[in-house]
Formats: sequence, C-alpha cells, structure tokens
Amino acid sequence: MSTRSTVILGTGSYAPERVLTNAELAKAVDTSDEWIRTRTGISERRIAAPGESTSDMGVQAARRALVNAGLTPADIDLLVVATITPDYVMPAASCLIQHKLGLRTSTTCFDLNAACSGFLFALDTVCAMVGSGRYQKALVIGVEKLSAIIDWQDRTTCVLFGDGAGAAVIGTSPEPGIGLLGTRLGTSGEHVELLYIPRGGTSAPATAESIAAQDHCIRMKGKEVFKLAVRAMDEAARDILEQHQLRADHISLVIPHQANLRIIEAISEYLDLPMERFFVNVDRYGNTSAASIPIALDEARRAGRIKSGDLTLLVAFGAGLTYGSALIRW
Ligand SMILES: CC(C)(COP(=O)(O)OP(=O)(O)OC[C@H]1O[C@@H](n2cnc3c(N)ncnc32)[C@H](O)[C@@H]1OP(=O)(O)O)[C@@H](O)C(=O)NCCC(=O)NCCS
Repeated sequence: MSTRSTVILGTGSYAPERVLTNAELAKAVDTSDEWIRTRTGISERRIAAPGESTSDMGVQAARRALVNAGLTPADIDLLVVATITPDYVMPAASCLIQHKLGLRTSTTCFDLNAACSGFLFALDTVCAMVGSGRYQKALVIGVEKLSAIIDWQDRTTCVLFGDGAGAAVIGTSPEPGIGLLGTRLGTSGEHVELLYIPRGGTSAPATAESIAAQDHCIRMKGKEVFKLAVRAMDEAARDILEQHQLRADHISLVIPHQANLRIIEAISEYLDLPMERFFVNVDRYGNTSAASIPIALDEARRAGRIKSGDLTLLVAFGAGLTYGSALIRW
C-alpha cells in the first residue's frame, strides 16, 4: 500500500446546452412523459450540438476542474479518459483532449472502457499511478456522447440516455486517512449481450444491412439489466463498507451511477439508508454513462453537500457487465 494519500483537488462538469424533454421524445416515438418519469425518474437530458464532440465536452469539464483545483494544464502529467464514445475508434479521445487542452506532450494519456462504471475504474487506476509516486497530478475525465450511438426509433433505449462530461483532478496529500480509501471493482463478462452494441466491432463489422437495422447502436434487455444492477451495486457497496469496518450510516453521501431513480431507490432500501443521503440528478441528465458519477460529484460539491471529513460512497454499474464502489474521505 502507498503511504501517500491520493486526493481529489478539484472537480468540474459540463452539459451541452440543448435540453431534450420527454414531451419532445413522445412526438418521435410511442412513449409519454408519464411513462418515462414513473419508470425511470428522467424528465430531460442534454444532447451535444452538431459538431460538438466527446473530446470538446471532456475539455470543458477538465478546464473547470483545473480552475477548481487552482492548477493549469502544465501541472498535469497523467490523463485517463473513461468513455465508450470516443471521437474516433482510433486513436483515443485522450489524445484529442491532450492537444485541445494544451497538456504537455510528456503527459501519459489513455482511454479506458468500463462503460457506466468507467469513472470508478479510471479513478482507481489514476489513484494507483499517482499513489505510486510516479505521477504527481492527474486528470480523470468521464465523458460520453451517447446521442451518437442511440437508435432514436427504439423507445426502450432512446428515452434513457444523454450526453455530458465530468472531471476530477487528482493529487496527493501528506495527511493520512483522506482521499480515496479504497475501491471494490468487479466484472461479470457472461452478461455481455444484455447491454451492448452488436455490430461495428471486429467480431461483426458493420455492413450496409446492419447499419440500416441500427445494429451499431445500443441494445439492451432492460429488465434483466435492472435486476443485475441492483444486486451488483448493493454487493459492491456492502463489500467496501465491510472491508473498512463501516456501517452504511457512516456515509454522509452516496453518489450512485444515475441510470434510473428506481435503481437508486432500491439501493437506498437495501442499504437501509434514506434517500436524503443519495445524490440524484438523473431527472435532468438521464444516464450519461461514464460521465454520470463525475457530473454528480461536481454538482454535489458545488451544492455544499460534501464537507471536510465527510465519507462519500461512489457506486456504479454498467455494460460488461462492470460494477464497483469507491470510498472517499474528504
Ligand atoms: C428500461 C426500463 C426503464 C424499462 O422499465 P420496465 O419497468 O422494466 O419495463 P419493461 O421493459 O418491462 O416494459 C414494460 C412495457 O413498457 C414498454 N415500454 C418500453 N419502453 C417504453 C417507453 N419508452 N415508453 C412506453 N412504453 C415503453 C415495453 O414495450 C413493455 O410493453 P409490453 O408490456 O407491452 O411488452 C428498466 O428496465 C430499466 O431501467 N432497466 C435498467 C436499464 C439501465 O439502467 N441500463 C443502463 C445500466 S448502466
């Protein structure tokens, strides 16, 4: 174990201007505001402007996180971007962000794909690299342009997702017992086909027919995913609490992945922790995958819901299936 505490020095987030309401979606597919709100808790989501890329959104969130940390791009020596929607299949979005943000060319930059759990996997990776002493100041970004991989005719998925970005600056502190205390990450690869993009990868390259059928877009078996999400997030939360000999009521704020209000309510019930201890913004953004937790974390900090000494639990679930939790002392 490292002797350096790895801490969050600043956070930032960015949501595109364009708001897409449930009422607008109900004009395009057979759905209703009432159905979407009662089944998911979502009222609206943000959609990237034409020409606005994943890297553009990531840069905006990163700039805000750097300002919040009182640092400049020149201070950063490591960038990890969690995304399933990079600007290009190749190269990584982090390469575009390095250039647009003006990070030094000596900065180590790479992308990481753990779908909706991506920010937790990236945070764990970055903290291990900074904690080792080989890196000093890092940026971790969760960013998605899911609007580009949604089948807008599929009412079972198109109502759920949105675009956005969140970022955190990671550094060290000589004070023991603060920052990232631990993570509990997991993967259940047997469930890949419950939530995936069937075509366009190397196992099934896109064809004219597959594109016409929208098989390069997200496909999901929602009911199965729902059950596994609740079980996995509950397990990840319980395990990390047990590892650190804590009870749920030691946690002042849970920042869960924002996929569905009913999933968050189920976790609240399973952990026997009231909903007031959960940060929720799924109503305004929908599911922004890897961006969901860092956007929520930034909004929670700005809203004054995280104070020095507080314990925060992050908990996520996503395609893969991936899942995980992280414990942070502020
Ligand atoms: C997708 C989800 C909201 C669907 O809610 P649900 O209560 O499970 O609903 P079901 O899938 O059982 O569908 C119930 C009915 O509503 C219909 N329906 C689905 N989407 C609809 C929509 N947008 N509007 C209206 N009706 C819809 C279904 O076709 C089904 O109709 P049927 O009974 O005639 O077949 C829910 O399963 C869910 O949130 N799952 C987890 C998804 C998730 O979070 N994924 C990302 C993880 S990171």
